[in-house]
Amino acid sequence: MITIADVKKDEEVKAIMFMAENQIEALGFTEHSVRHSSIVSKWAGDILEDIGTDAHRVELARIAGYLHDIGNSINRYNHAQSGAILAYKILTRMGMEYMDACEIMMAIGNHDEHEGLPVSDITSALILADKADVHKSRVRTNSTRLNTESLNIHDRVNLAAEKSLVSVDKATGEIVLNIVIDTEKCPVMDYFEIYFGRMQLCRRAADFLGRKFVLVINDVRLL
Ligand SMILES: [Fe+2]
Ligand SMILES: [Fe+2]
Repeated sequence: MITIADVKKDEEVKAIMFMAENQIEALGFTEHSVRHSSIVSKWAGDILEDIGTDAHRVELARIAGYLHDIGNSINRYNHAQSGAILAYKILTRMGMEYMDACEIMMAIGNHDEHEGLPVSDITSALILADKADVHKSRVRTNSTRLNTESLNIHDRVNLAAEKSLVSVDKATGEIVLNIVIDTEKCPVMDYFEIYFGRMQLCRRAADFLGRKFVLVINDVRLL
């Protein structure tokens, strides 16, 4: 079986991820590099593992998480769909079973909140992991800022995010997104303004997994 370790060391994956990050940087968006991909890979796999999914599907979720944003190497617009097709081609070239590559293709093609839906367990875990990664380290300080309109609030929210973590609560079985926001830098309302659609999708993703989605900001349970 193709593993996440195989994917991480593949030269084609490295080249595409390098170009994806270059384009995102030129556009002035928040960081979408190996750091983000690695975190999403880990959290997506951990969520499925913690709810008792078999190891094979956990590994597929980790691979989907690592590759989910490679479509940014082509264009930010429709990056979920373009990335899904790219991932399928790479993984089948590496020798992955067609059905496994299809699972990953579908998950990546549904990870964006604009047109994505939680259509499988792997997709749901990927959505939850991706939307959970809000952190000040993702804000660029030296970008060319081609897209200034929508960037400011995203920057403010990310800059204010001291900590974010999604995990399965072992006691309750709930899927908990725990965020610590510095309210001196950004009011919690700003977070909701840009994350409302994402949180709705997270709730649907948790529903698909048969779990309740809980949002905790600064130790206050909001959803
Ligand atoms: Fe994405
Ligand atoms: Fe992402």
